[in-house]
Amino acid sequence: MRRTALFALLASLLPVSRCVCSTTDPATEGQQYEAFKDFSNLFLTQRDLDKAFNEYIPGEYINHNPDVQSGRENALNYLRPIWTSTPVVPAAVFFGQGFGLIHYKVERNGTSIAIMDRYRLNGTCIVEHWDLRQTITGNEANPIAFF
Ligand SMILES: *[C@@H]1O[C@H](CO)[C@@H](O)[C@H](O)[C@H]1NC(C)=O
Ligand SMILES: *[C@@H]1O[C@H](CO)[C@@H](O)[C@H](O)[C@H]1NC(C)=O
Repeated sequence: MRRTALFALLASLLPVSRCVCSTTDPATEGQQYEAFKDFSNLFLTQRDLDKAFNEYIPGEYINHNPDVQSGRENALNYLRPIWTSTPVVPAAVFFGQGFGLIHYKVERNGTSIAIMDRYRLNGTCIVEHWDLRQTITGNEANPIAFF
């Protein structure tokens, strides 16, 4: 009993982020854009993976990332050990026609990669994701390659 009460007290003190999106309320494109910008800010700028997922990817997540099986928990388990230690340089955030794009550069194990993530929204929640990646060698013929 005492332990349960202690857990309840601790749980009430912890700042747990909850879903702020909806797949059932009708959303305008403007509201979807605001939701997507907020997600991008949490994910790319604040680097708060759990908050980004809790607030905007609360349920169904069809994931086409080649390194991990589909689904929200698989994505979190894959990203948690690497995301906060991966240097990120955000380049662009775009939204239109139900899809959001984020374009950014990451450093992974000494390799620079240009990444574009495409996300599909249902209402104001993200429900599907595709990856596009280009490895940056540093020897590109074009000085404005990738960005
Ligand atoms: C959006 O989500 C609702 C359930 O919340 C579902 O009924 C509907 O089929 C979904 N639409 C799309 C396009 O995925
Ligand atoms: C870097 O490489 C190691 C060994 O191959 C791997 O375990 C680790 O996950 C990699 N780190 C990232 C950020 O991909």
